[in-house]
Amino acid sequence: MRGEKVPNRYEVKLKRKDGSCFYGEIIARKIDFAGEPGVQVWIRDITERKQADNEKRLLELQLQQAQKVEAIGTLAGGIAHDFNNILAAIIGYTEIASLQVADDNKAKESLNEVLKAGHRAKDLVNQILAFSRPAEEGRKPIQVTSIMKEALKLLRATLPATIETRQNIEIDPDQDTILADPTQIHEVLMNLCTNAAHAMWENGGILEISLQNVEIGIRNSEFEDDEGKPPIHIPYSSVDLDPGQYLRLTVSDTGHGMTEKVMKRIFDPYFTTKDKGGGTGMGLSVVHGIIKSHGGTITVYSEQAKGSTFHVYLPLIQEEVQKPDIDDNAPVLTGHERILFVDDEHALVEIAKDILERLGYEVVTRTSSVEALELFRVRAHSFDLVITDMTMPNMTGDKLSRELMKIRSDIPIILCTGYSERISEEKAKGMGIREFVMKPLVMKDLAKTVRKALDT
Ligand SMILES: Nc1ncnc2c1ncn2[C@@H]1O[C@H](COP(=O)(O)OP(=O)(O)OP(=O)(O)O)[C@@H](O)[C@H]1O
Ligand SMILES: [Mg+2]
Repeated sequence: MRGEKVPNRYEVKLKRKDGSCFYGEIIARKIDFAGEPGVQVWIRDITERKQADNEKRLLELQLQQAQKVEAIGTLAGGIAHDFNNILAAIIGYTEIASLQVADDNKAKESLNEVLKAGHRAKDLVNQILAFSRPAEEGRKPIQVTSIMKEALKLLRATLPATIETRQNIEIDPDQDTILADPTQIHEVLMNLCTNAAHAMWENGGILEISLQNVEIGIRNSEFEDDEGKPPIHIPYSSVDLDPGQYLRLTVSDTGHGMTEKVMKRIFDPYFTTKDKGGGTGMGLSVVHGIIKSHGGTITVYSEQAKGSTFHVYLPLIQEEVQKPDIDDNAPVLTGHERILFVDDEHALVEIAKDILERLGYEVVTRTSSVEALELFRVRAHSFDLVITDMTMPNMTGDKLSRELMKIRSDIPIILCTGYSERISEEKAKGMGIREFVMKPLVMKDLAKTVRKALDT
């Protein structure tokens, strides 16, 4: 019997006798059946292969997403760094100009606006950096419950009465301590809640924040629904959570929800469905960056016209909580000490000199670390403090500091760092460097740090 091959090969969804479904592959060919034309048909159950293909596709997608986000992060980080230096000049010179203008002068108002915008830009740059290169420093054991309450209080004041807020804390006693940067966790909450509020802005609804303890096992049933399938959308890779105790923070709303198409892109930087001027689209990508860098993950469930739920998982720690610093609204601090300021960027040196002199200090500047060292060698006792940039040609700030301390071991030093030239606080403090300031230099921060370095 010579069969003639039929080119067709089909994949179909079929039903078993018990009603359950499976994927079948059908191959058929024409045959000669005892002199009569006939068809021979094979049906093969390919459900497993189908599932493996789907899983592979999902993994590929997650990997692609992760790579994309990383590439954008690197790019954004680079731009943000340069942008920070430009902002330093804008903010610095405006502060100086503002001091030279009388309070009743109309120009003062304009300058204040420039300053405000400058600070907004600085915040935005910080957001981009939080997303691209989340800082590890600034982390300490914190209790999420208090941050959550504070955020909710802040939010309540800005929400319309049609949006009801609820909080639901179901944690075991004191099981809400995580190792985190409190401002970043605050930001996560504010971004999630703001989004939720926007989704309910027109028709009102309920915004609920809850906290729970969950345990992630080896197999994350936490991320599967009743049928053992992963939820509608797991951004990038939530399954990579290490087993352990986690705090689950949930923000849910009864707003307009999202389509699946939107849901797939919400963590992309600059993705927004809001009108121009309505949103930057950075909110959730920042949230994602922060949570990932804290060893956590975020998932989202949403149904159109019903609402959305975001789950944030953060690893718990068993540690004592440090008392938060007392926030002082003290006036700008001044002094009369003698400062040597070193930075290879001429504009920055000029600004810093001006700021410091206005604060009452005597300032000598150098734009070369080698020259600064030479000067210090002959006049070590003419200075009470050295402020130096980190990245400089020939001799970096940390090397310069080491040399200075060889000459005078008790000289207080402040190191200015940008974002990409981070040296760990521990390492620098271990070397004997007193304080750090982040660029761009802002008068109030600088004034505070200078006093702190001089007084301790
Ligand atoms: N709770 C929610 N309900 C419905 N849609 C949401 C919700 N949260 C986020 N989205 C969708 O995800 C998009 C991206 O959110 P994201 O916070 O990143 O940016 P944004 O809110 O548009 O702008 P920004 O936060 O920068 O002001 C939103 O434009 C919106 O379409
Ligand atoms: Mg947002």
